[in-house]
Amino acid sequence: MCGIVGYVGPKQAYSYLIEGLFRLEYRGYDSAGIAIQDGEQIGIRKKTGRVTELAELCRQEPLKGSIGIGHTRWATHGAPSDTNSHPHVGGNGEVVLAHNGVIENYSILRDRLRELGYVFRTSTDTEVVAHLVAHQLDESIRLGASPTDAKTCVQAVESAIKQIKGTYGLAVLFRDVPDLLVATRLGSPLVVGIGKGEHYLASDASPLVGNTEEVVYLKDHETAVITADSFVLHHQDGSEPVVSIHALAQTSQDTDLGEYEHYMLKEIFEQPQTIENAMRGRLDEDEATAKFGGLNMDAQSLRRIDRIVLTACGTSWHAGLVGEYLIEEFARIPVEVEYASELRYRNPPMSDRTMIFAITQSGETADTLAALRECKRKGHETLAICNTVGSTIAREANGGIYLHAGPEIGVASTKAFTSQVTVLTLLALFLGRMRHLSYPAGQRIIGHLREMPDKIRQTLKCFDAVKEVARKYYTAENFLYLGRLYNFPVALEGALKLKEISYIHAEGYPAAEMKHGPIALVDEHTPSVFIAPRCQIYPKVMSNLEEVKARGGPVIAIACEGDDKIAELADDVIFVPDVDEYLQPLVASIPLQLLAYQIAILRGCNVDRPRNLAKSVTVE
Ligand code: M6R
Repeated sequence: MCGIVGYVGPKQAYSYLIEGLFRLEYRGYDSAGIAIQDGEQIGIRKKTGRVTELAELCRQEPLKGSIGIGHTRWATHGAPSDTNSHPHVGGNGEVVLAHNGVIENYSILRDRLRELGYVFRTSTDTEVVAHLVAHQLDESIRLGASPTDAKTCVQAVESAIKQIKGTYGLAVLFRDVPDLLVATRLGSPLVVGIGKGEHYLASDASPLVGNTEEVVYLKDHETAVITADSFVLHHQDGSEPVVSIHALAQTSQDTDLGEYEHYMLKEIFEQPQTIENAMRGRLDEDEATAKFGGLNMDAQSLRRIDRIVLTACGTSWHAGLVGEYLIEEFARIPVEVEYASELRYRNPPMSDRTMIFAITQSGETADTLAALRECKRKGHETLAICNTVGSTIAREANGGIYLHAGPEIGVASTKAFTSQVTVLTLLALFLGRMRHLSYPAGQRIIGHLREMPDKIRQTLKCFDAVKEVARKYYTAENFLYLGRLYNFPVALEGALKLKEISYIHAEGYPAAEMKHGPIALVDEHTPSVFIAPRCQIYPKVMSNLEEVKARGGPVIAIACEGDDKIAELADDVIFVPDVDEYLQPLVASIPLQLLAYQIAILRGCNVDRPRNLAKSVTVE
């Protein structure tokens, strides 16, 4: 939530800052702002709404200078407004900063600072930090430190953050030290791009693509002291950590829209490739199993595991539910899927033979990170299934599996979900082959997995059929999504997709649970989407479908090609290729992603930037 950029070097800072904010807009789009130091003073432009509006303001009132910071906001404290937009000013303008995170003790700090005479102009938690840094600076100067000494400024930041409770990624400029940029983090990501005689700062690597190929991921409690020519790290414990430089793996193509109108659509159509990427190099035909480079656990420790806890939020949690079914079926290991936001505060009994997997696209979700840390603290093996290379969760887990799906920019997660399910299928195969799963069964699974990219390509041909269905139902105000067994999590995921981008109320349910309450919602205005490819309990799903029809509810069925029976019963059918039951979530989720997309378009919604949401939820 919220995106930060920064630049110091020989060029005009504005173009990197504004372009970087466009790339980070998925993290929040309530307002945006930039601050640029021109050698004498720090000019600030900020505006409610999208980055385009800020760009327009800056076109009318340009800022010049070669050091600056920028921010795109997802509001937590204080409504979206020009005044509450970042960057914020501390003291009498000697400090200007941008913040990503939440200051939990802001009200105590604000009262204290008010007593000291500081005037608050905004209703944000961030302004407290700006004044606090200014206050620390002032204290040092009163004790004889030089206001133009970078050391004084860095110490002011370090003293201020010691008083803060909560999370922060901070980028700070100082009026009287015009070549200094200070960045520090706790719980909110920051990455520094290393250039020749210049440095870049961003909340994730996407703004750095095309500007530099070398990056340094800041760790919690680290402060980066940055000028055009130098980059030094301080740890809060007083040490100077070694700077470890990583190669930037992304290319500009990864973040270009190409021929597509929206990132969500582009990402839906990338799925044949992303599923292939998730499997690349991981299928071992000879041993009829999967292999992973980064689990960091030997076979003996893996065999000792007698329980698995999968923890995640949102779409990643739905992928976890599919994982539960897969692992229990293939490996016969009991699995629980926990909302990370609950697990972080619960204390379920877990033995030392319990393995924890955090599932996350961004690797920065605050609740998932907190749950992982809590489990790690208790001595459990904590692994991650993660898309974003170098993210906090990827770095803090004991080991893990990357999705290799490339950046997912649309706020609604699509390709990450199918990649997570693919990786969980590989994991189930791998753990199964260490236990009860036979060699021929392993080979059969590998054979089916190899076919999946083509099956997904075929599935995507339902695009026009989905469009027709969307035209028929886009004015409905309620939807039900129903599925059983492997398709129950798909129903939950389909409903979430529709809710988040079209603002239609949608509920996902196990189809048979309908009669215990939700069937009361069925009427002629409430479509039910049945995820009903052929499966072991297909006749039972058909009975559930009949129950809805009998009450006058319109039915949209997702069914296997050639299923004539369902075509007679349902009002509309979207066909998908026939695949084994455990792979159905991969194909069946695609028409649901497309349905949500088409309905949102017809309702005039912003599919890539839905209201009230942000891509990475880095606050609790
Ligand atoms: O980055 P993560 O996978 O940890 O994110 C978890 C959820 O915030 C995310 O899946 C969210 O539910 C998506 N907007 C769903 O489309």
